[in-house]
Amino acid sequence: MDTYKTILTKLEIRQFDTKRVPAEVKLKVLEAARATGTGMNRQEWRFILVQSKDSIKKLAEDSSSGGWVAGANFAVMILTDPTLGFHQIDAGRAAQDMQLAAWDQGVASGIFTGFREEKLRKDFEIPSNLKPTICLGFGYPTKKILGKKDRMPSTELAFLDKYSNKFDPKKLT
Ligand SMILES: Cc1cc2nc3c(=O)[nH]c(=O)nc-3n(C[C@H](O)[C@H](O)[C@H](O)COP(=O)(O)O)c2cc1C
Repeated sequence: MDTYKTILTKLEIRQFDTKRVPAEVKLKVLEAARATGTGMNRQEWRFILVQSKDSIKKLAEDSSSGGWVAGANFAVMILTDPTLGFHQIDAGRAAQDMQLAAWDQGVASGIFTGFREEKLRKDFEIPSNLKPTICLGFGYPTKKILGKKDRMPSTELAFLDKYSNKFDPKKLT
């Protein structure tokens, strides 16, 4: 799939098939994260790839907004250094790159950010200097995804040259 198509078709998916995602696809997802740039190239982030059934179950229990991850084939937790002003940007960029790399391989994913942090820290032995910022669940979609994105039009979201000029694609030079 070309990059533009991958971006335009990718949806958040929270229901997964039981089919196993091969190790090489997991590796591609992790490589996509590793290849992503961080602020000042700090690479402060760390990733926990969660794949055992038991750990996936724990992850679902330790989340306040991602219980659906219980049905995922694997998950990736992004830990970042909260003392860096850009740590959430770093996490967001890695998350998106992982989701797009997975989607390109036919693997769907969903993000969640609500954690029962104390329990999560204990269960996954997260060091105190790192914060669980984002978690992603991955798996094959249960059915062919025909979803449509619910997005505002660019004429409302974007402007040309200054904020008072509403975006109009016909005015692009
Ligand atoms: C910063 C951020 C936090 C999110 N947190 C959660 C979450 O905790 N749980 C969840 O199920 N979805 C979460 N989402 C997913 C959004 O609900 C999703 O991106 C939005 O509904 C658009 O989905 P679509 O791309 O399939 O249209 C989050 C998304 C973002 C960007």
